[in-house]
This record gives sequence, C-alpha cells and structure tokens, in this order.
Amino acid sequence: MTVAVDTEVNLGGITLRNPVLTASGTFGYGSEFAPFFALDRIGGIVAKSLTLEPRSGNLPPRIAETPAGMLNAIGLENVGVDAFLAEKLPLLPEGLPVLASVFETDIDRYAEVCKRLSGAPKLAGLEINASCPHVKSGGIEFGQRVELLARLVRETRRASSLPLFIKLSPNVTDIREMARACEAEGADGISLINTLQALDVDLATRRPALRNGLGGLSGPAIRPVALRMVWQASQAVKIPVCGIGGIMTGEDAVKFLVCGATAVQVGTANYLNPMAAVEVADGIERYAAAHGFARVSELVGTLRPYASSR
Ligand SMILES: Cc1cc2nc3c(=O)[nH]c(=O)nc-3n(C[C@H](O)[C@H](O)[C@H](O)COP(=O)(O)O)c2cc1C
Repeated sequence: MTVAVDTEVNLGGITLRNPVLTASGTFGYGSEFAPFFALDRIGGIVAKSLTLEPRSGNLPPRIAETPAGMLNAIGLENVGVDAFLAEKLPLLPEGLPVLASVFETDIDRYAEVCKRLSGAPKLAGLEINASCPHVKSGGIEFGQRVELLARLVRETRRASSLPLFIKLSPNVTDIREMARACEAEGADGISLINTLQALDVDLATRRPALRNGLGGLSGPAIRPVALRMVWQASQAVKIPVCGIGGIMTGEDAVKFLVCGATAVQVGTANYLNPMAAVEVADGIERYAAAHGFARVSELVGTLRPYASSR
C-alpha cells in the first residue's frame, strides 16, 4: 500500500505546497516556463536577481560547460526592479509563492530595491543575493566579510517586512559564522549555496573560457560541497535553510532535506530539462511514500550518525 504524502512545508513563514523552488537566474522571471508545465505544481519560484536599473551583464562568452557542471559569468543581466514589478510579476499565476531576488553594489541600493518590492501584490518574500561571484563591484564581498554581511541583513531587514532570505556564498572559510550573523540580524531563512568561484581555459586561444576570466561553477559537480554547507549551517542556526546545488532528481533533493534543508531550489537542471523542478517535486513525494513518511517535512534533518563502536 502506498502512503498518501503531505508535501507542504513552511519556509520561514511562507507556505509551500511542496519543498521545490527554482533557483534565481536559471528560470527567467517564471512565465517563460509556463508553456512547459502549470507553475503551481512546484513550491514556488525565485526570480532572476534585480538591480535598481536594468543591466545588460557581461560580454560573451559568459557560459561554458565543465565536467558535470556549468561555468557562468552572466554578470547579473536583468530588467531592473521597476520593469519586473510592471511587466514580469503580473504574468505569474495567483497563489504561486514568488520570491524576488535582490542584488546591488552597495547597501543603500540593496535597501532601496527592497523598499520598491515591498507591498507588491503576489510577492511572498525577498532573497538577498549576497554572493554573486563574478560582478566587478559588490557581489561576493557581501557574503565573505561577516561585518558587511551583518550590515546588509540589518538594512534590508529594516527596508521590508516581507519574509527575508539571505543567499550565502560557498566561497568562505566558515559558513556557520555567516549563517549566525544572518539569524542575529533578523533574517527569516538562509539560501545556500550560490556558485563556487572557478576558472577554465580555452586551449585553442589560451584565454579563459569566459571573457570575464573567473566564473561561478554550478551543477552536479558542486552538490557534495552544497550538502556539506547546508548540513553545517542547519546545525548552526534555528532559521530554515533552503538547499541549492546540483539538484537534478528527487533523490538529490531528499539528500538536502536529510542534511537539514527545509526546502530546495533547482538551478542548472532547468537548462537541461524545463520540467526538472516538477520532476524533482514528484521524486521527493515518491521517496517519502516508499519510505513510509506521511509528511515530507518529517525528512528534514534526519541524517543518522554512525554508532561509535571503537
Ligand atoms: C546561468 C546562471 C545564472 C545565475 N544567476 C543568478 C542570479 O541572478 N542570482 C542568484 O542569486 N543566483 C544566480 N545563479 C546561481 C543559482 O541560483 C544557484 O545558486 C547555483 O547555480 C547552484 O545551483 P545549481 O547547481 O542547481 O545550479 C545563477 C546560476 C546560473 C547557472
């Protein structure tokens, strides 16, 4: 007999019908994927990071394939916060939790984007991108220096009463310290990981594979690193962690739940298969049913230590 599974989870005050969101920058503004599946079959979406003004991003080449992964230096191309509110958000279905992702080059500008987004109908929350590894100013520094991160969280918290998630960088020595700073400054949750700073070489020209030089590595290659960081962060704080990094299947996602993530985001997989997020959600449900879990939320944090026998 198969068990009926309750897939609902609560992510920092947001009710999700299942624990699968799409990761910022890999799912456009959401409506681009509406031809492939009914968007309300997934838990929610995190839209492309927004800045105050529109940005065209870096010059190509800005994407390259790597073993079991993808290197990118898009450089935060986006339509800008005002066009998002006027043209993109209205296209999304009612009832679908949408998180807007916020990126800027200084803290006042981050706070201003948050203010403009606050009060927008349909927005369930904000995700502060404190971790972009390949923009010339701002970007990764916010997620690497704990005092700067704390100030960023404090000011964005002050700017909006929407549920606030901070997306952290994996390019740090101790993720627990960063997670604790977010919790102390009033964040409702943590998303991790963003891409790992990386480099590849085009041997025909002996130039970097990307015009930007450095890029961010994503995809299955980074999954074990992401699992380690999600596990460490979820041990360090009480606020929920949203796990991201190389999730291709429902079983990949279950590993993140077991390591302490309350929900997950699917990123690079969307480039290979536009149905990836739905298939991941179905796969989580199947795993829960097959292993006798009546609620998906019961899987969270169930990593079992070995008994110490020596
Ligand atoms: C092409 C591309 C663009 C991305 N753009 C953003 C972005 O705008 N904001 C952000 O916070 N993360 C961005 N990311 C990072 C992803 O949201 C995600 O954290 C990362 O890719 C790891 O997950 P994955 O291995 O499932 O892709 C981007 C990733 C890729 C591959």
